Amino acid sequence: MAYNIIECSNEVDFGAKARLAFCKAIRGLNGLPNVILPTGNTPAPFFQALKDSKVPITPFQYLQLDEYLGLPEDDEILFKNWLDRDVLSPLGITHRMAFNSAADPASEIQRIRDWYNHFRRVDVAVLGIGKNGHVGFNEPGSAFNSRARVAEMSDETWEANNKYWDREVPKKIITLGITELKLASTTLLLARGEEKADILYEAFYGEMTTEIPASYLQLQRNVVIIADKNALGRFPK
Ligand code: PGA
Repeated sequence: MAYNIIECSNEVDFGAKARLAFCKAIRGLNGLPNVILPTGNTPAPFFQALKDSKVPITPFQYLQLDEYLGLPEDDEILFKNWLDRDVLSPLGITHRMAFNSAADPASEIQRIRDWYNHFRRVDVAVLGIGKNGHVGFNEPGSAFNSRARVAEMSDETWEANNKYWDREVPKKIITLGITELKLASTTLLLARGEEKADILYEAFYGEMTTEIPASYLQLQRNVVIIADKNALGRFPK
C-alpha cells in the first residue's frame, strides 16, 4: 500500500507534523496550489500550527469540501465561515472556491461540477475521517465514482455536528464526491483519538468497500496518514 504514516505524540506535535507535511506538499508547484481543507475538531492543532508559523505559508487557493445546505450566507455555523475565522483570514488566504449554502442546490452543484471538470486539479486534499468512515459528507454507501452533490448526513454524523454548535444543523448538505477527492496529487488524512482507531484500521487494512468511504484511499497515490498514537492503536507496529 502506497501510504506514509506520521505518528504524533501530542497535539502540538500533531500540528507541527501536519504543517510540515502540508508545506512540503504545496511547495514548488506551478501556479497557486489548490487545497481542500476540512473542518471538525481534528484539524484544529494543524490550523494553529499554520497560524503560529514563523515562516510565511505559501499562498494557496482554498477549495471547500462540504457545507450545510439552505442556511444564510452569514450564518456562523457554515463551514466556510468557520474556516474563515479559524485559518483562512488569519493566513490571508483570499482565493476561495467556496459553496453557496443559500443558492439553488441544482445550479450550485452544476457550478461546482463545472469547476472541477474545467480545472481537474487538486494539489492537496486534507481530510478528516468520521467514526463511520466518511470523508467530507460521503457517508457509508457513497459510490467511489460519486461526484459533488447534495446528500444527507447519517443520524450519527448529524448528532456529531449538532454537538459542534449546540443547535440542530441542517441534515442536507453539499459535498464533494470521491471523484473530486481522487483528483488530489497528495492526500493528508488526519486522525486523532482512540475513537478513530477502529475505523482508521478498517479503512486501510479492511476490505475496500463503499461501506467505508475512506477505504478509497487504499488505491490513492501519495497518501500521508498523520495521526496520534491513539488513532494508530490498531496499526501493525
Ligand atoms: P472530527 O470530525 O474531526 O470532529 O472528529 C471528523 C469528521 O467527521 O470528518
